[in-house]
Amino acid sequence: MLIPNRHYAELKESYLFARIAEKTKAYLAEYPGKRLLRMGIGDVSQPLCPAVITALHAAVEEQAAKETFHGYLPECGAPFLREAVAKHYESRGVTLSPEEVFVSSGASDELGHLLDLFAPENPALIPEPAYPAYADASVLAGRRIVFLPTTPEEDFLPSPARAEEGELVYLCSPNNPTGAVLDRARLKAWVDWASRRGAVILFDAAYEAFIADEALPHSIFEIEGARECAVEICSLSKTAGFTGTRLGYTIIPRELRRGGMSLNAMWVRNRTTKSNGVSYILQRGGEAVFTPEGQTQVRQTLRIYQDNAKVMASALDRLGIRYTGGRNAPYLWLECPRGYSSWEFFDLLLRRIQVVGTPGEGFGESGEGWFRFSAFGSPEDTREAMTRLQELLG
Ligand code: MLT
Repeated sequence: MLIPNRHYAELKESYLFARIAEKTKAYLAEYPGKRLLRMGIGDVSQPLCPAVITALHAAVEEQAAKETFHGYLPECGAPFLREAVAKHYESRGVTLSPEEVFVSSGASDELGHLLDLFAPENPALIPEPAYPAYADASVLAGRRIVFLPTTPEEDFLPSPARAEEGELVYLCSPNNPTGAVLDRARLKAWVDWASRRGAVILFDAAYEAFIADEALPHSIFEIEGARECAVEICSLSKTAGFTGTRLGYTIIPRELRRGGMSLNAMWVRNRTTKSNGVSYILQRGGEAVFTPEGQTQVRQTLRIYQDNAKVMASALDRLGIRYTGGRNAPYLWLECPRGYSSWEFFDLLLRRIQVVGTPGEGFGESGEGWFRFSAFGSPEDTREAMTRLQELLG
C-alpha cells in the first residue's frame, strides 16, 4: 500500500487565503449583488506596464516564425534575463555573476522548491508573524519549526539575540505582514549570527521595490558576509504586476557552501532535473522590467500603491488605531480595535462594510489581535474602504 506524505495531516485545514476566499464566497452567496472592497490578499490591481506588454507581444511574434522560434531554454534562466537582473543589482552596488541568478516562476513556488537543498534534520527558524507558506512548506518537508515571535514593542523586528536554534532562517524585509524593514545594522547582526552557526538565511525580498528610505537595504547582498550565508528570493509579482503572469528570480552566490557542497551547483543540478525553465515569452517580458523605460513605468505604478498606503495610514491615524507598515511596504498591520480577535474583526468588516482584509492570526499565533490591509487595491476602492471604516469605527 502506498504511504502518503503524512505531514499533510499536520497542516491547518485550509491555507489562509483559501479560507478568506471561502468566507467571502459564502457571504456573496448569502448577499448576491453586494460589492466587496478587497484589501485582503496582496494581489495587484494595476495592469502590466506598456514596456512589458510590448516585449510580450514581440516575443509571441518570434514564436510564430521558424527563423525566430525558441524551443527549450536553459533551465536556470535565459542568459538575457539573468544578465539584466545582474545589471540591476550592479546599479545598487551589488556585484553578481549572471550564473548566480536563477529565473523562477515566482517567489512562493520557489520558497517551497528551495527546501530540496537542505536536509530536513535542521530546524527552520521563522520570525513571527510570517507569510504562512514558510511554515507550511517546512511542515510538508518534515522539518521542525522554531518560531521567534516579534512584538509591537520591538516594532516587529526580529533580533538574533533571542534566537536559540534553527539553521534555516526565514527573513522577510519589508515584512509581510507587518511592513517592518530590517536596517543595515539589524541585517548585519543576522548575517553574523548565521555565519557563526553555519546557518543559511532565506531572504524573501518580494517587497523590496516599496523601500523609499534611501538608507534601507533592498538586498541582503548589500551586507558584508551575506554571500557566504544567504539565498535571496525575489519576485516580479508586486514589483511589476506579475501576480497572474508568474515570474521571479533567486540569487544563490557561488561562495555559499555547506558540508563541502556548493548550493549554487546543487541548485543547477536541481533545476536541470526538475524544471524545463520558464517560458521564453515571459522571460522577455521580465527583461523589459529592467530597461530604463520599464523601470520608469513600474515606478509610476508603485506610486499608486504607495499613495493608497498613505490614504490608509491617515484613516488609521484619524481613528487612533495603532499600526505599523505602509511606509517602505505595501501592507498596513493594525491592532484590532475594541478587543476584537482578528477573525471577529474580519467578520465585522465583511458583514458591516463589505471590506475584506486579512486576519493577523493567519500569520501565526503572535498575529492574533492584529489585522492586515493591503495597498494593492484600486485607489477608488481604497478610498471607499477607508471612508466606510471611519463611519463604522469613528
Ligand atoms: C499575501 O497577500 O500575503 C501575498 O499576496 C501572498 C503571495 O504573495 O502569495
